[in-house]
Amino acid sequence: MKKLVMLGSALAVLACAGISGVRAGSAYEETPSVKEIMKKINGGPKSISGKLKTALKSSKPDWSVIQEDTKEYVELSEALAKNEPKKGSKESWEKLSKGYLDHATALDEAAKKENKAGVQAALKKAGATCKACHTAHKGK
Ligand code: HEC
Repeated sequence: MKKLVMLGSALAVLACAGISGVRAGSAYEETPSVKEIMKKINGGPKSISGKLKTALKSSKPDWSVIQEDTKEYVELSEALAKNEPKKGSKESWEKLSKGYLDHATALDEAAKKENKAGVQAALKKAGATCKACHTAHKGK
């Protein structure tokens, strides 16, 4: 919880820097947009989730590759939560993006343990969140 509070204040500082036109905070500049994040994680067979699904079909998955992908999945999901939705309320976005990050974290943990069933379960859980968030926050 303390971590979240700290993250919140860091974001507030970054947001202020953005408003005043100060571009000192590189983290602020580097936060990818929701669209970029979605493409990277979920945009088809070459995306992270696409690659993970393919990798899991193997009877001997290459865990070092999977772990790199799930690590990036988490980093991008963290960036997702830092974004503001173009559509829908901020409260709803916070809830849904944090939920997504939780699944991403579970995914990464399972990958670190080389737990194939765990990775599949976490991907399935993340996959159950797409529609609700798109309905609330994705434009046409
Ligand atoms: C926390 C909210 C949220 C969740 C969860 C979410 N999305 Fe998205 N997604 C968005 C928003 C918002 C956009 C629209 C971004 C834009 O165009 O600015 C989007 C856009 C997309 C796009 C279009 C990207 C492009 O090229 O324009 C794809 C594909 C996509 N999401 C797939 C998924 C899939 C698959 C899942 C579930 C595994 C998912 N999303 C979960 C919020 C979410």
